[in-house]
Amino acid sequence: MRKRIVAGNWKMNTDVAAGIKLASDLMQFLRDQPAPENVGVAIAPPFTHLTEINKVIDPAKICLAAQNCASEANGAYTGEVSVGMLKATGVMAVIIGHSERRAYFKEDHATLAKKVDLAIKNEMRPIFCCGEVLEERNAGIQNQVVEKQLKESLFHLDNEDFSRVIIAYEPVWAIGTGVVASPDQAQEIHKYIRSLVAARYGAGIAGELTILYGGSCKSSNAAEIFSKPDVDGGLIGGAALDAAEFHRIVLSF
Ligand code: PGA
Repeated sequence: MRKRIVAGNWKMNTDVAAGIKLASDLMQFLRDQPAPENVGVAIAPPFTHLTEINKVIDPAKICLAAQNCASEANGAYTGEVSVGMLKATGVMAVIIGHSERRAYFKEDHATLAKKVDLAIKNEMRPIFCCGEVLEERNAGIQNQVVEKQLKESLFHLDNEDFSRVIIAYEPVWAIGTGVVASPDQAQEIHKYIRSLVAARYGAGIAGELTILYGGSCKSSNAAEIFSKPDVDGGLIGGAALDAAEFHRIVLSF
């Protein structure tokens, strides 16, 4: 059975002290009531928090993730943080291609492919985000948009490397808007994504691929979305900033 995951993307929120408290509170909730079997929990705090948060979490209960990484391995890239640096703080997974990175920081398909390669080379799991904007959804071209994102940044990988990838489908119109994709909309495109992966890598690898839904997911709607056969969990933004609420989402399977 493929792995299910609930991952929290804290974005640019909390200072170190508040981040340590949030992570510690989540740890306590998970000690009191562990995640269901086969459900992994991950959190992606800001870079500045990673070292400290790594000290307060049990890696058997919470996987430490980063929100981004540099597209180069090291060198004169002022302000960037490399995958190697992240790895040294205890990070095991990295979000790549979040729509906010694509939109505000102009990250293109080729840059994202480089980040994916570096993550995999460093034995880190990429949580690769894809998803269409509202105009694309209204034009009915969401499948083509997502297909291009996957083909241009992921499908150069060989079978073994692709097996490390986690995909997060995040319709941009649902991120932080309170407008959540309907469970049927999520299922439809998740199934399509899995079919693309099956065509490229075979049914075995496609069947093992974890595909998360992201976009205004919270405890009140998670169970219904997660009940869909091709939805394997969530990438959670706003609702991940409240430990109790995030923990409720973890228990939604
Ligand atoms: P949201 O963000 O849950 O606040 O909509 C999700 C994301 O951007 O990963």
